[in-house]
Amino acid sequence: MFWVFLIFQAFTQALSKVPPPQNIYVANWLLIWTEQTEDRELFYTVQSRSILDNNWKDIPACVQIALNFCNVTSTKIHGNHAGCVMLRVQAERDGLTSIPVEACSSQGEPCTPQFSLTARPGSLTVHLSGDHSLAQEYGAHVKHRIYLGKKGESLKEHSDAASSLTIKELEEGQQYCAKVQYVTLLSNDTELSSCIQCESIPFSAGSKEKKITAGVFTILLIVILIVGIVYICIFHRRTIKHWMQPPCEIPVVFLQPISGKHKSPLISSPVDEQCDVLSIIESE
Ligand SMILES: *[C@@H]1O[C@H](CO)[C@@H](O)[C@H](O)[C@H]1NC(C)=O
Ligand SMILES: *[C@@H]1O[C@H](CO)[C@@H](O)[C@H](O)[C@H]1NC(C)=O
Repeated sequence: MFWVFLIFQAFTQALSKVPPPQNIYVANWLLIWTEQTEDRELFYTVQSRSILDNNWKDIPACVQIALNFCNVTSTKIHGNHAGCVMLRVQAERDGLTSIPVEACSSQGEPCTPQFSLTARPGSLTVHLSGDHSLAQEYGAHVKHRIYLGKKGESLKEHSDAASSLTIKELEEGQQYCAKVQYVTLLSNDTELSSCIQCESIPFSAGSKEKKITAGVFTILLIVILIVGIVYICIFHRRTIKHWMQPPCEIPVVFLQPISGKHKSPLISSPVDEQCDVLSIIESE
């Protein structure tokens, strides 16, 4: 376990040596990022995946390029206007790569509605931004429909919201994913689907402390029990043996002093034995 930790640390250190690209955004089918000022040149590789797929694929036109933008027209989804594509870019130098930085694209533009997640113990806040052209066009008739689910499970409709929303009573330590859609209330049509974002619900400090306290208490109790048993076994063998003996009661009769009145039936006082005097007379 310790070695795994060391190797993991070395690996992340190697990763962190190459500065990741920053301020990544997508506009008009171009993925653009800010280059880090470095004495040596960095190369960038852009990859994409669909929302439903976990496999990242290189965008052929954007493999190890020295530019700070990439034409992502090849990720166009035909037919589905609300389709979202995940994009990510990684910096590279001397065979080492940086941490990948992700962006979400819907038909060459940022996914809308845009939202961000904040996880707190037991709850998740969905921050919604209302500055989309749809929202401006329809005003109060446009709402956000929030979908929520545990990671790996399908997302279920949670609720409609006009502004940011905090979802409570979530399982701590569990990863939850959310997706947001615009809903025009007049026609009840859902339009545009944003990228799925996931966050882990942290443990509350209280619950962690309680668990630790309970654990320490249990261990202490077990240790005390073991020490107690060992102590008794070593130093109190006699007592144990004593306890283990079957109860033995001495009849009251034996405990009473022997007197003339109460004579024990067993112990008889010496009585003059009567003896026959044998006389053998030999007559001549
Ligand atoms: C991106 O590439 C496509 C063809 O693959 C081209 O039609 C389009 O003009 C390019 N966009 C930019 C901004 O260069
Ligand atoms: C809109 O659709 C949702 C389910 O998708 C439904 O619960 C709601 O009643 C509908 N509202 C109207 C006004 O049709």
